[in-house]
Amino acid sequence: MDKIIIEGGRPLQGEVTVGGAKNAVLPVLAATLLTSGLNEIRGVPRVRDVNTMIALLTALGARVESFEEDRLVIDTTGVRQHEAPYDLVSTMRASCLVLGPLLARLRRARVSLPGGCAIGARPIDLHLKGFRALGAQIVLDEGYVNGKAYRLQGAHVYFDSITVTGTANLMMAAALADGETVLENTAREPEVVFLADVLNQAGAKISGQGTDVITIQGVPVLKPLDGRIIPDRIEAGTYIIAGAITGGEVEVKNCVPEHLEALIHKLQEAGVVLQVSANAIQVKPAGRLNAVNIRTHPHPGFPTDLQAQFMALMTLAGGQSVILENVFENRFMHAAELCRMGAAITLEGHTAIVRGVSELGGAPLMATDLRASASLVLAALAARGESVISRVYHIDRGYEKMEQKLSRLGASIRRVR
Ligand code: UD1
Repeated sequence: MDKIIIEGGRPLQGEVTVGGAKNAVLPVLAATLLTSGLNEIRGVPRVRDVNTMIALLTALGARVESFEEDRLVIDTTGVRQHEAPYDLVSTMRASCLVLGPLLARLRRARVSLPGGCAIGARPIDLHLKGFRALGAQIVLDEGYVNGKAYRLQGAHVYFDSITVTGTANLMMAAALADGETVLENTAREPEVVFLADVLNQAGAKISGQGTDVITIQGVPVLKPLDGRIIPDRIEAGTYIIAGAITGGEVEVKNCVPEHLEALIHKLQEAGVVLQVSANAIQVKPAGRLNAVNIRTHPHPGFPTDLQAQFMALMTLAGGQSVILENVFENRFMHAAELCRMGAAITLEGHTAIVRGVSELGGAPLMATDLRASASLVLAALAARGESVISRVYHIDRGYEKMEQKLSRLGASIRRVR
């Protein structure tokens, strides 16, 4: 298993370019199953979750025609299989995104039920409730979701709580259903808006994306998809925090500042000096930061996917920061690792109380999930001495060329096998 070794304490300097968003490309790849033909997706990040989704599409009968640079061409003409097996779904929860497209296109789906994961139970009951409302028969059997539908019929679906992949799954199923579907209490994440836009370009009739009510008029067929993936706001946020935590000067290019408003406000409140332009954000050196409080919420609230990284930043701020995790029940696995570096963090249920310390020290560290791993990298960049981070396969799920990008910013970082 690979490890990442970081010698911390160097202010980062220079430019870094953000890639396409993992959470935007995964639903779009699943959505290619709604079509029959050559789908062309550009701006695709080379991360492990993308490879897993490609393996899943291939198992369902799709063919990757080419994957050069960041351009992926997928032929979905031969999609006939309807089973997403356990070995793929268990490595990536977002595999459940094929449920909606399979039900819509093949009228059948057998998808392994994702289990719990490091950050919580994460059920998909709301997805299933929505499919049932559209007229699908859903049976859980031997750890699989078995779905069948003679036809999908537009319906009114109310999500009891906001779910990002649930909104995407239902939007995809409803795109080819008969009649009108109204989804209420939907996710407003930029990745959901992007999926709706890509589907609309292919002939879908979706409106209201970006609000909490999405209306879909079903159409009989969609053209193959064609689009460029939006920049990854979580990757962008991670590099902005990398600049801030090392007291460096970093320009993060190819990002959409409107997608990062909650983070930008919180960083500015903490005293980080930012220069925001149309598609870049520059972090300037500042003195010691002030502790600020955050609460994670669905978009446009502070994203749970940046909570761990922000906590790393707060370990070195002056004063006490209260971090409330509202989206997932167990998303503080990084706290204990940060404490091993000298951070002072107390956990009380969904709340972390972080008392800023004057410095962190390098340590052997264990990555536990994707974003927790990023927070350890950030802390290690700022810490005095060497850190060795193991289980870095979590990082490879969602960060493209992280060591190369950080090295180019002047970090002392290397991967060993
Ligand atoms: C997506 C993102 C993930 C991000 C999360 C929250 C992708 C591929 N992943 O995950 O990076 O951290 O949004 O912004 O886009 N829930 C239920 N029942 C359901 C569905 C969800 O109880 O049927 C709960 C979950 O357990 C969780 C909360 O709702 O506590 C939000 O989950 P959800 O928005 O569905 O997260 P994902 O879509 O899995």
